[in-house]
Amino acid sequence: MTKIFIQKSEPLRGVVAIGGSKNAVLPLLAATLLTEEPCVLDGVPALKDVEVMCRLLRSFGAEVTEEPEAHRITVRTAVIRTSEAPQDLVRAMRASVVAMGPLLARTGFARVPLPGGCAIGDRPINLHEKGFAALGAEVRTVREEDGVCVEASADRLAGAEMYLDFASVGATENIMMAAALAQGTTIIENPAQEPEIVDLANFLNKMGARIKGAGTDVIKIEGVDCLRGAEHCVIPDRIEAATYMLAAAITHGNVLVDNMLPNHVTPVIAKLRESGVRIREEESGLRVDGGAKNFLATDIKTLPYPGFPTDVQPQFMAFLTIADGASTIMETVFENRFMHIEQLNLMGAGITEEGRRAFLPGGARLHGACVRATDLRCGAALVLAGLAAKGETVVSDVYHIERGYEDLAGKLSGLGAQIRREEEL
Ligand code: UD1
Repeated sequence: MTKIFIQKSEPLRGVVAIGGSKNAVLPLLAATLLTEEPCVLDGVPALKDVEVMCRLLRSFGAEVTEEPEAHRITVRTAVIRTSEAPQDLVRAMRASVVAMGPLLARTGFARVPLPGGCAIGDRPINLHEKGFAALGAEVRTVREEDGVCVEASADRLAGAEMYLDFASVGATENIMMAAALAQGTTIIENPAQEPEIVDLANFLNKMGARIKGAGTDVIKIEGVDCLRGAEHCVIPDRIEAATYMLAAAITHGNVLVDNMLPNHVTPVIAKLRESGVRIREEESGLRVDGGAKNFLATDIKTLPYPGFPTDVQPQFMAFLTIADGASTIMETVFENRFMHIEQLNLMGAGITEEGRRAFLPGGARLHGACVRATDLRCGAALVLAGLAAKGETVVSDVYHIERGYEDLAGKLSGLGAQIRREEEL
């Protein structure tokens, strides 16, 4: 099993370049199914989740050329051979569900196994289903021996007005892609406003879609008859950027986090500043200076964008364990996203939880331990804690980390961290 070994590190120094956004590229790849023409994506991070999405596209009949060194992927789906997603790929990555909207729009049919719950909660897809039904699709849940599938079918989708009960990222993406080829106008009220939604809308518009309002609280989509191929460069990964900002802070280092968009991480900047970390905008990124003093405690509440991102909550928790005084963290997006608490406590964090709230006493003297990445961002949090913990921290189940971080150990060691990744054969 692959493991990451981390020693307490001196203050990190240097420059780290942020890659393309995982959560943007997955729906962008799914969107390429909407056209028979070739599409080219640049700035694609070399991640396990991207590999899984490419396998999924191939299973539908796409020709996919991956050039991980060049961070480029070319997809051409001249014909869709099948609109049924294989169970093993959907199990390996929940985000596979975003293929459903494009398949339904292009072929009139889509069948996807229900991905089921995961470490951070139940994660139903009822809002996606409601959206497809509003566009006139017949949506069915089919029970089979090896699990439950969701099927949607429609001769031609029809534009509709709808309100999302919760601003779900995946549902907004799926509905936007399906509505792009629907007949007539679709209006989504209370959509997700994440930068990844804007990136997807920009790509779809390059393909010939007519989408307005992405990034605001109403999205309007005028359906078109067909879409063409397009080229697009993926936006930088705001969660990866926030993780390196925290790595600089937790080691009292001074790092330039390069190739990022500061306005995508406004709440993370604000909360780090409240804790006493100095942050300055430079030409292409942010200079993060942890300074020599102890950090101040602060309270965090996760919310849909532009609120504090749930995907940075575990990493910020790792940081606040060593702040002076008590902090509270409230998770409102997922019902069970505190798996990292048990692992951080093995390192001496002393965190307690009650429902959706975590209480951090602060002032922890972290020590190395053998810990487990229970999910992607938990893994990142443990690596950050390891940088500040006395002795050696060994993180197992590293495959979770590799779903979403390209060369985390390599980039951190480039900043002077004492970290190595070892593959056990
Ligand atoms: C995306 C991100 C993930 C991030 C999350 C929230 C990708 C590939 N993943 O996930 O990293 O943590 O946004 O910012 O982009 N929900 C329902 N019914 C639905 C859909 C969602 O109840 O049909 C609930 C979920 O259970 C969850 C909440 O809504 O509690 C947020 O989910 P959603 O915004 O859909 O997240 P994802 O798109 O799955």
